[in-house]
Amino acid sequence: MKILFLGDAVGIPGRSIILRNLLSEIQNKKIDFVVINGENAADSGLGLTEEICKDFFNCGVDVITTGNHVWDQKETMSHIEKENRLLRPKNLFEPSPGSGFGVFIAKNNMKVGVLNLMGNVFMKKSEDAFEVAEKFMQKYKLKDDYDFLIVDFHCETTSEKNAMGHFFDGKATLVVGTHTHIPTNDARVLKNGTAYQTDAGMCGDYDSVIGMNKNNSISKFLKRKSLKHFPTTGEASLSGVIVDCDIETGLAKKIESFTYGGELKNSH
Ligand SMILES: [Fe+2]
Ligand SMILES: [Fe+2]
Repeated sequence: MKILFLGDAVGIPGRSIILRNLLSEIQNKKIDFVVINGENAADSGLGLTEEICKDFFNCGVDVITTGNHVWDQKETMSHIEKENRLLRPKNLFEPSPGSGFGVFIAKNNMKVGVLNLMGNVFMKKSEDAFEVAEKFMQKYKLKDDYDFLIVDFHCETTSEKNAMGHFFDGKATLVVGTHTHIPTNDARVLKNGTAYQTDAGMCGDYDSVIGMNKNNSISKFLKRKSLKHFPTTGEASLSGVIVDCDIETGLAKKIESFTYGGELKNSH
């Protein structure tokens, strides 16, 4: 059983590399389940649309997770109520439309739980991610409620993501961070069998500042005349992790991290 998780797709470059490559990647690497974080997939890099979700599902994506940009496109509030394969962070204040957790059927018919959480440090206010995670772990169990569990923890600080990885160790197949758009070099299987990487990176143009026009971002930091952030239009890289899972335990055997195409030609 192989799970592919792709980091935040950013703008038109991020979408196009996915639409061009995902179906062949799924076939070549024998992937059974695909999750992508889509919170920046709109042309503006803010939120995503129903049309974009359809395109992702048509090219092999099973579930789309999000984060702080989930509501940036107004239509998402109503679309998410009809589309259970689109998740928003579970710890948003209630009542919020949609859901932060679901159980889905993989291409090989196994049951995969996907949980989307958002961090509390330097992020929009939401319920305590660790308390919500603790309640979740009391309610749902690996192999009882699903065969595998993927946790997308969308947050700013490495320490918060690192702690969540250990918190779920032995209870989730994969805990992976999103939001910072820069892939971290720490993919590993933790002590009790959970695959972990602090940030999956972005599917976007790396000749940028986290997907946005670099000169404009530098001007902003210099407090000089600048425009609202806008995505770059260069060639994107695909970035994420592939987890080889143990069907007996639901835990990870191996995690492989990759970032390739566009500016970043390396794979590690
Ligand atoms: Fe993002
Ligand atoms: Fe984000």
